[in-house]
Amino acid sequence: MTVMQLDAVLAIEQVAYSVPWTRGNFIDSIASGYEAWLLMSPDQGVLGYFIAMDGYEEMHLLNLTVAPAVQGRGHGRAMLDRLVDICRARDALQLWLEVRESNDRARALYQRYGFVPVGVRRDYYPLPPGVPGREDAVVMSLKTATTE
Ligand SMILES: CC(C)(COP(=O)(O)OP(=O)(O)OC[C@H]1O[C@@H](n2cnc3c(N)ncnc32)[C@H](O)[C@@H]1OP(=O)(O)O)[C@@H](O)C(=O)NCCC(=O)NCCS
Repeated sequence: MTVMQLDAVLAIEQVAYSVPWTRGNFIDSIASGYEAWLLMSPDQGVLGYFIAMDGYEEMHLLNLTVAPAVQGRGHGRAMLDRLVDICRARDALQLWLEVRESNDRARALYQRYGFVPVGVRRDYYPLPPGVPGREDAVVMSLKTATTE
C-alpha cells in the first residue's frame, strides 16, 4: 500500500466500518513502515488490505478489511495467510489483534483461524458519531512460530 492508492483504500474503509480509519491513520501507518498490503484484482482493483505493526518477536494486526461486495469468498483468510508468512519471515512468534466485541463475523473468522481470545480492553473503541459510550475490544492472539 502506498499513499497514491489511498483513495481506493478509503472508499472501502468508509463503507466497511461504522467508525472508519481516516486518511491520516493510513498515512501514519505507511510512514511508520508498518506492514501495509493490498489485495489486488487485475480487473477490479483493490479488493482488501491489511496493516500490521512489527514488534519484538511479535506482530500486531491493526486493520484487516475486505470490500463488502467480495466478503465471504476467502479473501480475509487469504490475507491472514499472507500475514502469517510475513510473521514467520520476521521471526514474530505471536500475532495479536483487537476486535470489537460486537463484530461476530470477524471474531468467528479469527477463532476458526486459530486465534485465541486472551482478554478484554474495556471501552477501547469509539461508537459511531452521535452514539454515546464506547465499546469493549476482545484481544486475540495466534501463535505463529512453526517450531516449539
Ligand atoms: C472480517 C473480514 C475481514 C473477513 O473477510 P472475508 O473475506 O469476508 O472472510 P472469508 O471469506 O475469508 O471467511 C473466513 C472465514 O469466515 C467465515 N465466514 C464468512 N462469512 C461469515 C459470516 N457472515 N459469519 C460468520 N463466519 C463467516 C468463513 O466461513 C470462513 O471460515 P473458514 O475459512 O473456516 O471456512 C471481512 O468480513 C471484513 O472486512 N469485514 C468488515 C471489516 C472488519 O470487521 N474487519 C475486521 C476488523 S477486526
